[in-house]
Amino acid sequence: MSSGLRGRQDIERGQSVKKEVYKLTVNGQEYELALEPQWTLSHVLREKLGLTGTKEACKGGACGACTVLIDGKAVPSCMVLAVEQVGKSIETIEGLFRDGMHPLQGAWLEEFGAQCGFCSPGMIMSAKALLDRNPRPTETEIKEALAGNICICSNYEHIVNAVLVAAERIQETQRRRDHG
Ligand code: FES
Ligand code: FES
Repeated sequence: MSSGLRGRQDIERGQSVKKEVYKLTVNGQEYELALEPQWTLSHVLREKLGLTGTKEACKGGACGACTVLIDGKAVPSCMVLAVEQVGKSIETIEGLFRDGMHPLQGAWLEEFGAQCGFCSPGMIMSAKALLDRNPRPTETEIKEALAGNICICSNYEHIVNAVLVAAERIQETQRRRDHG
């Protein structure tokens, strides 16, 4: 029986679940955490590490608000157990701000990618996974990559523009690097 299932059954029986210590790597930093086996990654990021940029809404894999990167892949963190992420590289929206804003974050501001902003962290992480594997996406490819992320403000046009602008900026920086 998986530890997650056992944990859930213990909770249903009203028994306390034993925590064990695991090492998780988040934004390049290693954390030793006492975790209950049924805790989701989104719960641990928000409640144990204080990384509240990752949002939770549906908690059922349907909205994308909780999207993070696990080994470079965009994953709804409410749908995976934290204890199963040992040895993997987890990246959250907080990890994108290094020596300043990531081009996606800059483009989000300039292109009005956020209205209420609730969907932005998850959208940006999905967009990052896309640009990392496909630096020159078409509009259609962007829409496909963001299909699992819902924006209740219906700000999709600005969001797609922001990803296009960020992709162009990343290309431009790369061109400058290549030509010294
Ligand atoms: S909160 Fe995880 S997909 Fe909605
Ligand atoms: S900007 Fe409000 S949910 Fe997307």
